[in-house]
Amino acid sequence: MTEEQRRQSKGLFVRTFGCQMNRYDSERLAELLREEGYEPVADEGQADLVVINTCTVREKAEQKAFSYLGRLKTVKRRRPEVVIAIAGCVAQQNGASLLDRVPHLDLVVGTHGLAQVPRMLIRLAETGKRQCFVDFMYDFGDRFDGARTPQSPGVSAYVTIMRGCDNHCTYCIVPQVRGRECSRTVREIVGEVESLVASGVKEVILLGQNVNSFGKGLSGGPELATLLREVAKVPGVMRIRFTTSHPKDLSPAVMGCFAEIEPLCPHVHLPVQSGSDRILGRMSRGYTREHFLRLMAELRRVRPDVAISSDVIVGFPGETEADFRDTVALLEAVRFDALFSFMYSDRPGTPARRLRGKVPEEVKIERLQSLQGVQERITLERNEAQVGTITPVLVEGPSQAGQGQLSGRSPQNRVVNFSGHPDLVGREVPVLISAACPHSLQGVVAIEGHHPLPMVKETSCYGK
Ligand code: SAH
Ligand code: SF4
Ligand code: F3S
Repeated sequence: MTEEQRRQSKGLFVRTFGCQMNRYDSERLAELLREEGYEPVADEGQADLVVINTCTVREKAEQKAFSYLGRLKTVKRRRPEVVIAIAGCVAQQNGASLLDRVPHLDLVVGTHGLAQVPRMLIRLAETGKRQCFVDFMYDFGDRFDGARTPQSPGVSAYVTIMRGCDNHCTYCIVPQVRGRECSRTVREIVGEVESLVASGVKEVILLGQNVNSFGKGLSGGPELATLLREVAKVPGVMRIRFTTSHPKDLSPAVMGCFAEIEPLCPHVHLPVQSGSDRILGRMSRGYTREHFLRLMAELRRVRPDVAISSDVIVGFPGETEADFRDTVALLEAVRFDALFSFMYSDRPGTPARRLRGKVPEEVKIERLQSLQGVQERITLERNEAQVGTITPVLVEGPSQAGQGQLSGRSPQNRVVNFSGHPDLVGREVPVLISAACPHSLQGVVAIEGHHPLPMVKETSCYGK
């Protein structure tokens, strides 16, 4: 960019809360707005347009969005010409009422409306009227399709393959705020992967709320397995991941892909939510504990080195001590590599909100802590089992731990930190694992035919 262009460009600041899909949407919005002359700036103070991309999956997530929105009042007071926009799931859920509630807000952009933002900005400037767009659009023929122009392409990039969700998990607000399931075409997705790879991306992470039902409603009936094969054919794609899978829909065809498709990483995120059949029923998850355990066994048979992560909710309405113990026992039986656990949170308009047997807050906290204690031990044990092995690490950049280290991921999605030259970013490097930490591994570059470290288990983590 020339100095002249920089002076003419407008500043964009996007703050993203929530899941990977929101991160994807924020990236695409920044790409779209670049065509309109907006360039990212480091903070709200320098921005002409501030966008908050929000999440409402739990009450806390929604509160975070509102508290940040509240703080933007001072930005607006200082510079009334700054445009403040709320996007994402809180915007979709609350719609135009947000404009009444928040006087310093200019735009409300629902989950299907990001492509409308340039038009909304023009209308705001021309009429002075604050704008709201919360329609659902199911044709995907918007400006979010087509080639990507990533602003600062990383080693890894998200690609949304479908929007929405047709499931009815009784606790979940996502179907309300993201709409019905709708898949992008294989051609569109492959085209996007091609443009990402051309800009230097090595790993693509295919996103959807329920990727196992990808393809529903598309002509020719492609399935996730078909898509994975097509994406793997794109020259230069080093690694492929996908998320989220649903245990009721994970098909033998997709499981088979883990043995067949070379770039497909051996990692599955498969949220179980509870280990109690009674609670799974009340959640309308559509599978039993037994079915889930069979899937675990089958995945590990097809791909013995697969890593499995999951989500669990504690304190769902009606959850007894015995139900909770069933969940803990499931964690011990499966031994997940990683787990995300949450306290149940009542969401507006969900069936679970009306269920009896709400679990007191202090019991939820106690259960969450106890569950997390169990899982921390299991994760550490599984990490420790890696010590002494050599694993290919796709290097993403400098390590957060500092110390001049690099950080990347193993195919199983474990974070690996090691010392190396920054030129290694974007390359896959064999690393000998020397120590296990609670959330990462420590290693050294493995030189062929030479083990630079004695093969002993270290007990301390780097920097600790
Ligand atoms: N589509 C994905 C993820 C949905 S949201 C799936 O089906 O798994 C991510 C996670 O948030 C869920 O897996 C669930 O564990 C959690 N979650 C969703 N709604 C929640 C609620 N009301 N209270 C607490 N956790 C919730
Ligand atoms: Fe929510 Fe269930 Fe859909 Fe996941 S599958 S987004 S938990 S309704
Ligand atoms: Fe949150 Fe919306 Fe994602 S509610 S989890 S940002 S789909």
